[in-house]
Amino acid sequence: MLRMPAILFGLFAAATPVGAEEPKPVVPPVFVWATKSYDLPKREPIFEGFGAQLLNQHCLICHSAEFVDEQPPLPAATWRAEVLKMKNVFGAPVEDRDIPDLVEALTRRQRTMPNDGPVGNPGNGR
Ligand code: HEC
Repeated sequence: MLRMPAILFGLFAAATPVGAEEPKPVVPPVFVWATKSYDLPKREPIFEGFGAQLLNQHCLICHSAEFVDEQPPLPAATWRAEVLKMKNVFGAPVEDRDIPDLVEALTRRQRTMPNDGPVGNPGNGR
């Protein structure tokens, strides 16, 4: 009868050795807030130059002009696919009859209005 409590006491004593250190509380590292500043690329808000009126009318609802102008040189077929994507996928209000003029405007701008493009994108000026 006495054996059982003695065994239990022995197990308990083995699990908590006398003088064992308390586990240390986990202290999260101190987070230091810092202020950083970045120079964002300058964005031209509206199109100017060739085809500006048409592009301002159709593209500025969602983009800055520079976002469009800074694309790498693209052939007309790619610009056409791009305009169709804006219309069919993103819901740009583009009439079918305006698509050839938009493609012409986009293609000709790249031929005649070189720009530097954003960081990491050679743009159409080089
Ligand atoms: C209804 C909103 C809307 C309109 C209007 C619009 N776009 Fe977009 N465009 C988008 C969205 C959304 C994206 C995807 C942006 C992203 O991926 O971060 C995009 C992306 C682009 C891109 C980057 C390449 C790509 O396919 O993602 C180009 C170039 C572009 N648009 C050109 C145009 C041109 C040119 C026009 C005018 C004919 C136009 N967009 C009108 C919504 C629009």
